[in-house]
Amino acid sequence: MFMETASKVRKKNLTYLNNDRLENMNSCINSIKRKRVPGEFLEFGIALGGSAICIASELDDDRRFIGFDVFGMIPPPGEKDGPGPNERYETIKTGRSVGIGGDRYYGYVNDLHQLVIKNFEDFGFMIDGHKIELVPGLYEAILPGLPEMTIAFAHIDCDWYEPVMLCLEYITPRLSPGGMIILDDYNDWPGCKKASDEFCARHPEIDVRRTSPHCVLCKRFEPATIIGRLSRAFFGGLTAFARDKLL
Ligand SMILES: C[S@@+](CC[C@H](N)C(=O)[O-])C[C@H]1O[C@@H](n2cnc3c(N)ncnc32)[C@H](O)[C@@H]1O
Repeated sequence: MFMETASKVRKKNLTYLNNDRLENMNSCINSIKRKRVPGEFLEFGIALGGSAICIASELDDDRRFIGFDVFGMIPPPGEKDGPGPNERYETIKTGRSVGIGGDRYYGYVNDLHQLVIKNFEDFGFMIDGHKIELVPGLYEAILPGLPEMTIAFAHIDCDWYEPVMLCLEYITPRLSPGGMIILDDYNDWPGCKKASDEFCARHPEIDVRRTSPHCVLCKRFEPATIIGRLSRAFFGGLTAFARDKLL
């Protein structure tokens, strides 16, 4: 389902992600589903909705998709992002940016939120505010007021140092053991790499699984959780054996 959706999304110029990144995202999500890691699927950085639609196509019964974006012009980079992103922002701000495949740049679309809702609907996904929800606003404004949640997978695709750091700080304490975070811009924008490297150096509970084609982080199981899982498996097996042999 995911790669079929991804191919249609790419044909419609709805995502900046190439095939390698989409394929790897698909295998992360498959692994989370196979291991039954509990929690929601999130995306920070929706633009036209392309990668969000692919993620939402993989929801199972007990999961939700929640997407976060300002749904307008991307906010400016900061000092920690360096000159490249600031030059890129100047191009965007002065109306000279071109969109995917020569289309209109998403930041210049009048009502981007409505367009994304329509893009989801075209793929058969309703934004019902429950199973699939889009939360408009700046991360710095909306994250502190969100209801509590457990997260299994998050795609961070918001380019610059400050929002990437904010997202990592929000997601990590809520991420289930075995849950994963993908940082799309790790090899594209220096602020994203800097935020991720600094964050991981302070958080030993986070493993860096790979750094290409994007960065994949995974939350470790606590030793106590591993012992708990092993002993449940062992004693569960023992009980089944005793039941078979003795009853
Ligand atoms: C590269 S685009 C996302 C691309 C998309 N995932 C795709 O499939 O092509 C980055 C998005 O991050 C959003 N963004 C960046 N910083 C933000 C912030 N501080 N608050 C809310 N949205 C932000 C921008 O508005 C933009 O839509």
